[in-house]
Amino acid sequence: MGGQARQLETAVAAASAFTTDHLARVDRPRSPRTHLELEQSIDAVDLEQPLGDLDEVIGELGDVWLDHAVWYHDPRYIAHLNCPITVASVAAEVMATSVNTAVESWDQATSAALIEKRLIRWTTDRIGFTDGLADGVFTSGGTQSNLQALFIAREKALASCGTDADTHAENLSRIRFLTTGNAHYSVARAARLLGLGDRGIISLGEDSRGRLNPAELDRRLAEARLEGLLPAAVIATAGTTDRGAIDPLPEITEVCRRHSVHLHVDAAYGGALLVSPRRRSWLAGIEQADSITVDFHKGFYQPVACSAVLVRRARDLYHVSWFADYLNPASSGRLNLADISLQTTRRFDALKLWVTLRVCGAAAIGEAFDRCCDLATDTARLLYEDPDFELVDPPQLSTVLFRFAPPQTGPDVDAAQLNQCIRDVLFDSGEAVVATTVIKGKACLKFTILDPTLTVDQLREVIALVRDTGHELTTPAPQSSADQTPSPAERQHLS
Ligand SMILES: Cc1ncc(COP(=O)(O)O)c(C=O)c1O
Repeated sequence: MGGQARQLETAVAAASAFTTDHLARVDRPRSPRTHLELEQSIDAVDLEQPLGDLDEVIGELGDVWLDHAVWYHDPRYIAHLNCPITVASVAAEVMATSVNTAVESWDQATSAALIEKRLIRWTTDRIGFTDGLADGVFTSGGTQSNLQALFIAREKALASCGTDADTHAENLSRIRFLTTGNAHYSVARAARLLGLGDRGIISLGEDSRGRLNPAELDRRLAEARLEGLLPAAVIATAGTTDRGAIDPLPEITEVCRRHSVHLHVDAAYGGALLVSPRRRSWLAGIEQADSITVDFHKGFYQPVACSAVLVRRARDLYHVSWFADYLNPASSGRLNLADISLQTTRRFDALKLWVTLRVCGAAAIGEAFDRCCDLATDTARLLYEDPDFELVDPPQLSTVLFRFAPPQTGPDVDAAQLNQCIRDVLFDSGEAVVATTVIKGKACLKFTILDPTLTVDQLREVIALVRDTGHELTTPAPQSSADQTPSPAERQHLS
């Protein structure tokens, strides 16, 4: 075993040196290699012929992966909710993976299960679940957290109809989830997975900032009951993916209470405000929710995957329980986390959050997220004051939604297509990675800022890249017969 430990040390050191060397050399968010070129280099690897030597394989990984990875820590990567990660959390990942702890049963996990439990309690304390009855479990991400929460809500609603197996299918067909079109798509997919189908979602309107309207919610809940439907859950979002909108939680809570319906708050993105020194109050009311999704792999600067679903009443988690004789027998009296998880074998994802909190502290995480929100506001101001751009929506968290729309653009240019092309040209060249989305029916560009070390000047540089690309795409190519090179506009079939 001592020999194996030395081998592990050498292997991890080699992998780490190679990776950190790449990290240090990054000078753009991705390489311009095309899909086809990347596919060819990966297909060229003969998986039936092992190289037999880790150093050689690590070297090979340069070409098939790392030279062409998408680097989220590069200042010109501001597309999605990928955060830069704390150094402490990476060290914890190495430890967790080296030990290969699986947390699902006491006899596999012991102190690891207790560490997870302690972090769940830390999170529920931050939420403000104060009566000591709350609980939760780590999950693979917001998608799974939402699915588990909505499964709980569905089971509670079905249980309220009694246990008659003959009426189960009919009751299931009456179940409804209420939310706005701004909820993450995993909510609608959860409805499908839970047997509700697409009609299982009652889609509510939203106000000008994309937030759920509590008065409409009140009315639609009453109508649903009158129609004989079974409203099982209201899904509010604290930080919608595109706009960062936080639904008005205190008012929504009040409506849900009155209608005795489960309130799930998807705080996958906005959950980072739990540790924010300056913006914690934006989550006021979250402590009244029945279940909550928090993604530590977004605003808490943790490596993928690290998320949790939290519940106000621990007993709700037992709707997912399945007791297997070999793993977690019902009467074991042990801490078996498999009892309350949708997964069986499960990584020790809690460790990285633990190590980050112990090294950096919660306030540092919150300050970093606050800084990202400040940067989004500064960036929006730059765009608002710039005649080449239209600010589509003022930032509510750390996203910025805008379009390249210079006044001189001719009527024949499709603005949606133009902005999509800008994104594609920047991505294909590897110069910058920004996102596109649709807000209020308008296609636009999106910056998602999660890197607190970014500067306004760096964001200005990305704006300049967008502008230059936009102008290049809308400038007609010179009509010379000698010049057969297609312009970017022609390449993208813009005109
Ligand atoms: C609001 C919201 N909920 C849920 C999710 C899904 O989270 P995950 O990607 O961790 O499954 C996202 C992802 O961006 C999100 O923004």
